[in-house]
Amino acid sequence: MAQDNGNRHVPAHVAIVMDGNGRWAQQRGLPRGEGHRSGVGAVREAVRAAVACGVRYLTLYAFSTENWKRPPEEVNGLMQLLVESADTYLQEFIDGGIRVDTIGDTSALPPLVRGAIAQVRKMTREGKKLTLIIALNYGGRPEIVRATRAIAEAVLEGRARPEEIDESMLTQHLYTAGLPDPDLLIRTSGEQRLSNFLLWQLAYTEFYFTPKLWPDFTGADFEAALHDYAQRKRRFGGV
Ligand code: FPP
Repeated sequence: MAQDNGNRHVPAHVAIVMDGNGRWAQQRGLPRGEGHRSGVGAVREAVRAAVACGVRYLTLYAFSTENWKRPPEEVNGLMQLLVESADTYLQEFIDGGIRVDTIGDTSALPPLVRGAIAQVRKMTREGKKLTLIIALNYGGRPEIVRATRAIAEAVLEGRARPEEIDESMLTQHLYTAGLPDPDLLIRTSGEQRLSNFLLWQLAYTEFYFTPKLWPDFTGADFEAALHDYAQRKRRFGGV
């Protein structure tokens, strides 16, 4: 729920499926990697707009568990871009009070990426303005399976009883433990699907779809999505 910033019209937590980088590049006769590179500029715009609007949590779907199926040069390019971006924007994150964190199985990422993530997490941990959560090697179903396994182990070892398992316990075993559920989900590029993103956490989230391709998505577009959200009446299953 939008509660942390004290204004129910501003979503406390915005999640984004940054889609359309490949098409953006193809339309210009460029390799797909150039679309991802331009996408980093849109990430910067969204982060700045989120801070300016008073959003407290911003979660970005950067690499899914399914994205390993892409050609190796595209996967390698994305990994390289993550390392470069961590380096380029570290100081901006520190100066801007932005705490960076990740969700997903980062243990499977190349050592260079893991190192860059560890460094950014450590150096930005005092950030109080915005928590920027990057979903990396993330999938909603694997996340729920992982949580279920952890709870099963707790039961097996006598640390929990089956009748104690409830929504709160499952929530606490997800990568997002401690974070509020997203209030608003934005997906760019005209696609209208979840693609295994935050399946549990999006139960009552408002969705906003735009035809804009991710590299073209500006701070003003982010504000337009928030304006749309502010007009909505959320009922959480009530009246
Ligand atoms: C989806 O577009 C986009 C991705 C799979 C990667 C998103 C990554 C970035 C924007 C850069 C790195 C991020 C950070 C946080 C620095 P697509 O390639 O599926 O586009 P298409 O549907 O047009 O092919």
